[in-house]
Amino acid sequence: MPLPKILVFAGSIRAGSYNARLAAVAAKELAQGGADVTRISLEDYPLPIYDGDAEAQSGAPDNARKLKGMMTEHAGVFIASPEYNASITPLLKNAIDWISRVRERGEPPLAAFKGRAFAIGGASDSPYGALRSLMALRQVLELGCGALVIPEQVTVFRAATAFDDNDSLTDERAANSLKRALGRLLETAREMT
Ligand SMILES: Cc1cc2nc3c(=O)[nH]c(=O)nc-3n(C[C@H](O)[C@H](O)[C@H](O)COP(=O)(O)O)c2cc1C
Repeated sequence: MPLPKILVFAGSIRAGSYNARLAAVAAKELAQGGADVTRISLEDYPLPIYDGDAEAQSGAPDNARKLKGMMTEHAGVFIASPEYNASITPLLKNAIDWISRVRERGEPPLAAFKGRAFAIGGASDSPYGALRSLMALRQVLELGCGALVIPEQVTVFRAATAFDDNDSLTDERAANSLKRALGRLLETAREMT
């Protein structure tokens, strides 16, 4: 049976981003769990803020098409989502918005979000660990884009001290919930391919 292909990225491009670290931990664990993992950074896919006039004039930017293509090529997606003012980052929302606008000829709407499984996690230095960001992201992906987001999710709180130098989580609760979420992501991705 071919290894399930899983795409991993974070909603932050900040140097030293906690969520980029969470994405790195998830990528390592997914690879150990038997997945074919692609980890990307949104830094490599810069996009203008979505503007309907620009879209009407020139279509979606190449990087939106590339990101949509990346999602389509994978059976599962893990997103590490920072929390900004109780929601997701503009970087992540803008990427999702642009991806949601890319539609090849004959393709149903939102194709990149259908037929694959999503898992979400978030890291914050606060005691809530980006929980509200995950609630917002779940709404965007499920209600907005029609995606299947598995119920298990991971919140990493007190993120400044939550990671070690070997791409592992030091907090047992967070490490266990990541394991559970990634296990279910792999299982669901396998079922969907
Ligand atoms: C505009 C802004 C709003 C923020 N709002 C929240 C918030 O509501 N809850 C929270 O836990 N952290 C909040 N933070 C702190 C971020 O969680 C923190 O900057 C974190 O490091 C961002 O994720 P990153 O490390 O992956 O870049 C906010 C930060 C910014 C810049």
